[in-house]
Order: sequence, then C-alpha cells, then structure tokens
Amino acid sequence: NDLEKGTYPYYMLKEIDEQPAVMRKLVLKYQDEEGKLSIDPEIVNTMMDSDRIYIIAAGTSYHAGLVGKKLLEEMTNIPTEVHVSSEFGYHTPLLPEKPFFIFISQSGETADSRQVLVKMNELGHPSLTVTNVAGSTLSRESNFTLLLNAGPEIAVASTKAYTAQIAVLAILSEVVGMEKGLIDEPTMIHDLGIVANAMQTLVDEKDVIEELASEYLSITRNAFYIGRGMDYHVALEAALKLKEISYIQTEGFAAGELKHGTIALIEKGTPVIALVTEQAVAGHTRGNLQETRARGAHTMVISMDGLDRPGDHIVIPKVNPLLSALVSVIPTQLLSYYCSLHRGNDVDKPRNLAKSVTVE
Ligand code: G6P
Repeated sequence: NDLEKGTYPYYMLKEIDEQPAVMRKLVLKYQDEEGKLSIDPEIVNTMMDSDRIYIIAAGTSYHAGLVGKKLLEEMTNIPTEVHVSSEFGYHTPLLPEKPFFIFISQSGETADSRQVLVKMNELGHPSLTVTNVAGSTLSRESNFTLLLNAGPEIAVASTKAYTAQIAVLAILSEVVGMEKGLIDEPTMIHDLGIVANAMQTLVDEKDVIEELASEYLSITRNAFYIGRGMDYHVALEAALKLKEISYIQTEGFAAGELKHGTIALIEKGTPVIALVTEQAVAGHTRGNLQETRARGAHTMVISMDGLDRPGDHIVIPKVNPLLSALVSVIPTQLLSYYCSLHRGNDVDKPRNLAKSVTVE
C-alpha cells in the first residue's frame, strides 16, 4: 500500500501535488463529444425547477460548500444556503416549496450528512451527492451523483478533494447557467485550465513556502488567517488545515470582524496571514492586517497577481476571481504540511482525527 506513495514521504504532499492533474482530468470527464461541458440533464432540470439550493456538508467539504454557494448564485441565480450537516438535521430551517439538496462529501460516508439525507428523503426533496467514492452511502441514497474523479485521498487532512469539489460545483454552475440563458459564452474549460497551470506554479515553489513555514509557524501556539468574501472562505479552510495537522490553535476570520473583539488576542509575534485576491476588498483587508501589525503581529500576505504589492510573501497567478479559492488554498496547504513536518507530527494521521466519521 505504501508503494503508492512513491518517493513522497507523506500522502498529503503527494495529494497536494496531484491537484493540477485532478483539475485537468475533471474538465475531460465532464466534457461531451463536442468538447462542451455537460452534466446529466435530469440534474440540471431538477435544479432549474428548484427555488433554493441547500448545500449540506462537514469539515473541509463544508468549506468547499461555502465557495460553491458563491459559484452557484453567481452563475445560476438560484439562492443557495450552506449548512453544517450536524446542525441541519435536528434544527432544520424553514424550507421553501422546492428545495434542492447538494451533499458534499469526499467519502460519501459521513454520518452527520447522512442523517440529513435520510430526513430529506422522507420529505421527498431531491438531492445530489458530490463525492469521491462511487457507490458510497450518500451516493446510493440520493437521487443523483457527481464524482470528483480525484483518485483515492489517503491523508486525513483533505486537500485534492476540496479543490475537486469546488471545480465540480463550478462546472455544474456553468452548465446550469448556460441552460438558463444567463451565460452567453462558456469559459470554465479555459478557466480551469488556467487554474491547473497556476496550481502547478505554486506546487513548484515548495522551497519558498517551506521557508515561510519555518519563519512564521515554528514556535507559535496560535495563528490567524484573515480575508473577505472568497478569501474569508479560504481562510476558514486554511485555518482548519493548519490546526488539524500542526495542533496550532488557528482561527480563520472575516478580516473586518477581527477588530470587533478578537484583535484582543494579538500579541507580539502572533502570525496573521492575509489572503488578498479580490479587488473590491483588497485595500480593506490590507488595512485590517496593518491594524494587527501595529499590535505586534507577524504578518504575511498571500495576494493575487495584479493586486500584489511590494513585500507580499506569496503572489498567486491571476485566475478567474470566481475560482481564486482553488489557487489561493495551495500555499496554505503547503504551509500546514511543512509546519506539521517540522514539528515532527505524523502528517497523514493526526491525533484524534479520522478520515471518515461514521458516527453522529
Ligand atoms: C472528517 C475528515 C475531514 C473531512 C470531514 C468530512 O472530519 O477528517 O477531513 O473534511 O470528515 O468528510 P467527508 O468525507 O464527508 O467529506
């Protein structure tokens, strides 16, 4: 089994490296003979018929759902909500007449998500599972399935499944948006190709990121990721990834919310990492980062080409802003990996965690 790791010391690093290939494979898997993106028309029609989409997921898949909501609303114009599965089933919000459920689950086995599916099946609401595992419980018990085609993910900390989930939702959103006549010219095949190249550039910059991990994260007991909009969603995932495998207490924060209380935690040397990929809020996020620096924080900036400023630590190549999460998450995955490695942790099997949680 360990042979599959090849020359990699840990599965996590291998899986981080596989992401550009996963993007390219997905684009091929979801293309028809004419080279257009295509999704089972039954899925598309059921979605078009619904008045609200509910994304249900846990952990990293929930974070992919937050990005997915943005993609679905932008491209399909269908209001979309994202919920943590352990909360939704027993505290179900008031549902509209025609809800459509999207379950996001790498394993397709998460018990918290399944209990929601069982209840929604009883109510007769249609559902789609986005999963890496064909024939998994969630896949079998929902009406429709879209596969991630990411290959087995072995490391407990999810990386390639997160980016594949977002990419599948981007493809789905464009196909539905086209069908609804909201999009004139499809760009997703091209855009995901650009994303794959951008990911490749970043995974080739491991030395730089390993250095930054040493400089920022080697001795600290806590850390913050901040951002706004899509960058906030990535900050949540980046923080989860770092805490899971390094055991550093890390919080992902909406950059503008930090000053309303949590900034009290900033001390001399506290690492605060800002994600800056959206033009409209770039200046605000930088301002918020400056506020933490003035209180002694050790600040780092991950920005997108075009919005970068001298002194930024990591500049990700320019991609469709709707897809920025797919690229900005890569350096945060690598920061977590090297931080965990340097601390001598078992990167692939962090303490107290399971790859798939089959109890509620
Ligand atoms: C566990 C894993 C996480 C994962 C979550 C949801 O907690 O450790 O990495 O994100 O379950 O898993 P799923 O298979 O439903 O995506």
